[in-house]
Amino acid sequence: MIPTVIPTVQPTATKDELIHIVEALRSSMSPSGRKPGYGIIGTGMMGREHIRAVLQLGQAELIGLCDSHPKSLELGVDEVARSGGKTPKTYADAAALANDPDVDAILICTPNFTHRAVFDEVKASGKPIFLEKPMATTLDDALYLAEEALKYPAPIQLGMQYRYKSQYQLALSALERNELGSVKMISLCEYRPPFLPKVREWNKFSEYSGGTLVEKCCHYFDLMNRIAGAPPARVYASGGRAVNFTDFEYEGKPSDIDDHALVVVDYENGVKAQFALNMFSEELFEALTVGGCAGTLHTEEHASFKPGRPSRSSIKIQTPDHPAYEGVDCTFPDDIELGGHYGSTLFEHQRFHDQLAGNTNDGATCAEGLWAIITAWMAQASMQQGSAVDVREILASASLDPHRDGLLPEVWKVNDASL
Ligand SMILES: NC(=O)c1ccc[n+]([C@@H]2O[C@H](COP(=O)([O-])OP(=O)(O)OC[C@H]3O[C@@H](n4cnc5c(N)ncnc54)[C@H](O)[C@@H]3O)[C@@H](O)[C@H]2O)c1
Repeated sequence: MIPTVIPTVQPTATKDELIHIVEALRSSMSPSGRKPGYGIIGTGMMGREHIRAVLQLGQAELIGLCDSHPKSLELGVDEVARSGGKTPKTYADAAALANDPDVDAILICTPNFTHRAVFDEVKASGKPIFLEKPMATTLDDALYLAEEALKYPAPIQLGMQYRYKSQYQLALSALERNELGSVKMISLCEYRPPFLPKVREWNKFSEYSGGTLVEKCCHYFDLMNRIAGAPPARVYASGGRAVNFTDFEYEGKPSDIDDHALVVVDYENGVKAQFALNMFSEELFEALTVGGCAGTLHTEEHASFKPGRPSRSSIKIQTPDHPAYEGVDCTFPDDIELGGHYGSTLFEHQRFHDQLAGNTNDGATCAEGLWAIITAWMAQASMQQGSAVDVREILASASLDPHRDGLLPEVWKVNDASL
C-alpha cells in the first residue's frame, strides 16, 4: 500500500533513523500491486539520474525512453541495464512514448527551451507528468504551462528537488512548526564550479537556458519564495560574466551566460531576502539563514564534483533550548545520496509516486515553478537595467497577470510582518 502519511525527517534524526525512513519508503512501495510504468523523454545527464533513482526506489517500472540524440538514447538504455532494469522500449518521438498504453506517467527531462513544446506533444495523453526545472525559459511560456496545469486532468510535478536536500527538509519542517515565529529575513548562497557540458551545450546560452538565474537558481528562488510565503514585490540584482565561458563558442555562437550575482528581494509581506551566486568556485557550498522573531536557523552544505570528497550537511536551530541549537550533522547516508543530488532526487520521486496514487503532497507545483521563474527573471531584468524592478509593474507592462487564484502557490499564507 502507498502510505498516505509522508515520513518527515526530524531535526534530531540520526543516520540510523534516516536509513530507517528510506527503508520505510521502500517497503511501502506496493511490492504486491502493479507498479506504474514510466516513460522518460530526454536521457541526458538528468534523465539518467532519474533512471537510477526510479530503479533504486523500485516504486515504478521503467517502460521506455525517447531522445532525439542517438548517443543519449544509447546511454539511457545502458543506464537502465546497469541499474538493474528490464530492457526499455525506445520511441521515435515524445508523442509515441506518451501514447504507449504501458506508460502511465511521463518524465520530461529535455533542455529548458523545449519544455513547452514537449508538453504540447504529450498533453493529449492526459497522463501524469514530471517536468524538469525550470519549467520554461520565458515568462510567457511559464505562465502558459501554469495555466495549462490548472485544467490538466492529472498531476504535473516539477523537478525542483533541492527542497528535499536533507538540511532543507529539516529547515522547512522547523518553519512549518513555526519554531522561528514570524519570518523576517532569508539569506541563501550557492558557490559552485562552472556549468557542466551538455548535449549541444544549451546551458551556455540564455536563449536556451532562460539565463543563469532562471536555469540554475530557480531551485533557490523556489526555497526563498516558499519560506517568505508571499509574492516578490521588488527585486534588485547585480552580477554578470566574470570568469566562465568568456571565450566559449558553440557552432560559431559566443556564450552569453552569467556566472555570478547578488540578488535582494523585498516580498509583499515585508520579508527581506538575499541570494548570492558564485559559479567559479572549486567546491560546492550552500548556506541558508532564516531569521524569525523567535529565533534563527542556519544550514550548510559542503560538497564536491571531485571523486572521493564526501559531502557534509548540517543545521542549527537557535531558539532557546532547541535540541539542534549547537548544530546537527544531517548528511544523508551514502545509500540515499546515491539517488542523486545528495539524495533529494529520491524524495521527489517518492512525492511523484504518491501523487499518482491520488494523494496531494509537497511536490513542487507549476504555480511554485512559475513564481520561482518570475523571481529569477526579475533579478535578471534588474541586472540588465542596473536598478531595482517593481514586479507588479513589469508584469503589467507585459500584460501578464499571475497574481490570480490557482497561479499563486497554495502554501503561501499571509506572513504577519508586524509580529
Ligand atoms: N533538478 C535538477 O537538479 C536538475 C539538474 C540538471 C538538469 N536539470 C534539468 O533537466 C533538463 C535536462 O538537463 P540535462 O542536464 O539532462 O541536459 P542534457 O543536455 O544532458 O540532456 C538533455 C537531453 O534531451 C534531449 N532532447 C532535446 N530535445 C529533445 C526532444 N525534443 N525530444 C527528446 N529528447 C530531446 C537531448 O538530446 C539530450 O540528450 C533541463 O531542463 C535541466 O535544467 C535539472
